[in-house]
Formats: sequence, structure tokens, C-alpha cells
Amino acid sequence: MTNSLQMYLSENKSRQLDELVEWLRIPSISTEAAHKGDIMQAAEWLVNNMRTSGLDHVELIETDTHPLIYGDWLHAGAEQPTILIYGHYDVQPVDPLDLWETPPFEPTVRGDDLFARGASDDKGQTFIHVKAMEALLQTVGTLPVNVKFIIEGEEEAGGAALDAYLPNHTDKLAADLCLISDTGILSPTQPLITYGLRGMWSGEITVTGPTSDLHSGVYGGAVHNANQALAELLAALHNEEGHVMVPGFYDNVEELSMEERQEMARVPYGEAELKNGTGVPAAYGEADYTIVERAGSRPTLEINGMWGGYIGDGFKTVIPSQAHAKISCRLVPNQDPDRIGKLIGDHLQSLAPDTITVDIQERGGGSPAFVAPIDLPEIKAAARAYQRVFGIEPVFKREGGSIPVVVDFQKALGTPVVLLGFGLPDDNLHAPNEKFHLPLFYKGIETVIAFMEEMGGRGS
Ligand code: BES
Ligand code: MN
Ligand code: MN
Repeated sequence: MTNSLQMYLSENKSRQLDELVEWLRIPSISTEAAHKGDIMQAAEWLVNNMRTSGLDHVELIETDTHPLIYGDWLHAGAEQPTILIYGHYDVQPVDPLDLWETPPFEPTVRGDDLFARGASDDKGQTFIHVKAMEALLQTVGTLPVNVKFIIEGEEEAGGAALDAYLPNHTDKLAADLCLISDTGILSPTQPLITYGLRGMWSGEITVTGPTSDLHSGVYGGAVHNANQALAELLAALHNEEGHVMVPGFYDNVEELSMEERQEMARVPYGEAELKNGTGVPAAYGEADYTIVERAGSRPTLEINGMWGGYIGDGFKTVIPSQAHAKISCRLVPNQDPDRIGKLIGDHLQSLAPDTITVDIQERGGGSPAFVAPIDLPEIKAAARAYQRVFGIEPVFKREGGSIPVVVDFQKALGTPVVLLGFGLPDDNLHAPNEKFHLPLFYKGIETVIAFMEEMGGRGS
């Protein structure tokens, strides 16, 4: 890195942070219709910022849902690779609001952390890329590689707009590599390369007993309680060891290679860290797999919500007519989301007693898992970039979370995908008090610059 670049970065730290804070003030919640205007405002804000940062052809692309944002800088020469940078400017809802120490859209610095909804997922991490380009263009005047940005406003809501846009704009988005900062590293000092993401299937179960709620004194004992029947069905989905009991669920799931298990064994995270980080009294799950393996490379079925009957103040002796559950699966390679949904539906129907009926609605938008080869040249370049900035080699692991568009990029554009994350395990993603560790905002900018230099053949 040149001296002038180094100087620029240190002199502009607080201004770049101020800009991020301004962007984070806009409550761009994609899943809530009331925030449609805020989404638009957040999109326009980024368009302006990308323009003043020196990117070309910056445009707001209207869609049926929320806008996409494009921008590029393509003057590195045809012999240099083109990197497509993806991120999302939408954020998750904020409830429960009363658990936030400071309001989610009043970004607040406490210690080294910036607290706000979207600080880490994913406005803060997306902004790293914009500010890395700005720093290079304002000092060196050029980038080591060609760059395109495609930023979406509904990742947290299923990503329909980008899904529809991608296959029809493969020329415009054509690139040699897709680069995404929407994952995390292990600690402020230990970088991590995420080389896999789990896929996803989700749906909703409704159990119906009587046509209307009943008095439990008049009918109790003679009709099957819908809450009880739902609990019985859900309880049958796992055995005591945490295996999913849906027949066919593990068909084609490949065992981890020795090499992968060895890589993941280097990740210094086990039961103690899990207990410490989550407050659980003990770890759960498949005994044959380590914690890192269970939460990153094994498929799961989770009950995300369940409700039915009376849950208000006091007490009501009722037999509910209906009970509901939202469930979702994290999927690994070779599990097809549609097939998994069908297996779950068939299994629940086969378990259902004749005292109730069961209905399963798929939520749609399921996505397959992603795994990249660890020895991909682009991943090696990412490892060198982390090493240069953090002074320590990254460890490698698969992440349990999902970024469905990753597989779509691979398919539509035929590019490898590199996940260059800067979040931390305790960033409180999707939860109250989401934060971004500010040293990683600044190191992120340096790492993106180092990665571009590595990709442009100018590693140093
Ligand atoms: N950035 C996350 C994915 C993620 C989660 C990466 C945890 C690293 C650690 C992304 O915004 C996200 O939340 N994805 C959703 C899926 C989406 C379809 C709602 C997820 O994983 O639940
Ligand atoms: Mn995200
Ligand atoms: Mn998210």
C-alpha cells in the first residue's frame, strides 16, 4: 500500500464512519411494507455515495419490489480481471425493540463497536467496498482490477428482484469473480474464510382439530387437542441424538473429507465457546460431529415458531381448534430444497393421527447449499489479503447461515464466489443490539484493497 493511500485512510476514518452512520439512520427494513419509502431513501443515499466515491455508471434500477443498485469502474484494462461485488442494503426488523440499549436507527458508538440495525448485516460490510474504491480512486487514481457493484434491497425478504434480474443481465454483470462481504471472521485478530454456506427450506404447519375452540371441561378427553397433536408431531421430527427422523432427509449427504475435518478442527471453537457465547447450559446435537461441523456442515430442521390456543393474561380452559408452527431446514450439498419439502410434508402426513388434519405450506424461495474448493486461486488470494492485513493466516470453515444468491451468481454468471467477511460471532445479527466492530470496518477496507492488489497481480 502506498504512503498516500495509507495517509488518506487514516485521515478520512471519521468522515467515512460518519457516512456509514448517516446511512444506518435510514430504517431500510425490507420485510415490512411500511418501510418501502425508507428502502428507496437508503437506495438513493447509496447511489449518491457511490457517485461521489468515484464509481461510474451508478444507477438505481427500479424493480417490482425494491431497487437494485449498479455501479462500476472498468478502466483497469481488459487483461485485468473483473470483480463483481455484491451486498445488501436492507435490514432485518428490530423487534423486540425494548431490548435495544440504544435505538436501532440511532447509531451509537460504545467502545470499539458501532451499534445499529444493519451495522454488520450488511450495510457496514457493503460500505467497506465503496470506501475501499474511494480511497484508491482519490489517491492512486486507478483500481488494480475492474469492478462492478450489484447491491440489493431485499436479501432478508427472499431476494426476488435480483433473482429475476440476474438471468436477464448476464452480460452487464459478467465478471471473473463474485466478491461478497456478508459473513464473519472468528475474532478481531483471527481472520476466517467461509468456503461454504448452508441452503434453506422453510414452511408452515397447521394442525386442525375441532372447527372452533371448545370448552375443555365439556369436550376435554374426547377430542384431540390441536396444540398437543402439533407438539406430538414436532417431537417426532428428531430423535434423542438430534438426528432428523424424516425418511430420506440424509440421502446423498456426503460425509466430510478428512481434509475438511482437519481444516475445521483448526477453528478454535468448541463447547466452552458455545456456552459462553449463547448462554446455553450444554451443547446439543449429533455426537459424531464437532460443534463447528454441526453448525456449519450438517443439515438441520428447526422449529422457528409455534403458537395456538390461549396465551393472553390469566387463564382460559380451552381446547384450541388450530395450532401452528413455522419450521425451516438448513441444507448441505446434494440436498434439493424441493425434495426436502416434499419429504417433510409426506412424513408429517404419514404421522398424523386420524383425530386431526395437517396442512403444510411451503414458504417458497428455498435455496441449495454452496461449497467452494478451499484451494481455489481466488480463495488463496483472499487468504493472502487477510494475512497481509491481520498478520495471521485465516482458518477455514463452512458457515451455517445462508446467502441464497451465491448459488444464483455461480449458475447465471459461471463465476467462483469469494466470501470476504468482517463480522464477528457476537455481532447480534437479526437480534437486538446488532453491532459492527469498528476496527474491522477499517481493516475491512484495507483487506479489500489488498485483495484487489492480489487479484490484479500486484500483491506485496
Ligand atoms: N448475512 C446473512 C447470512 C449469514 C448469517 C452469514 C450468519 C454469516 C453468518 C444473511 O443476511 C442472512 O441473514 N441470511 C438468511 C437467509 C435469508 C433467506 C433470510 C439466513 O441465513 O437466515
Ligand atoms: Mn446479510
Ligand atoms: Mn441477514
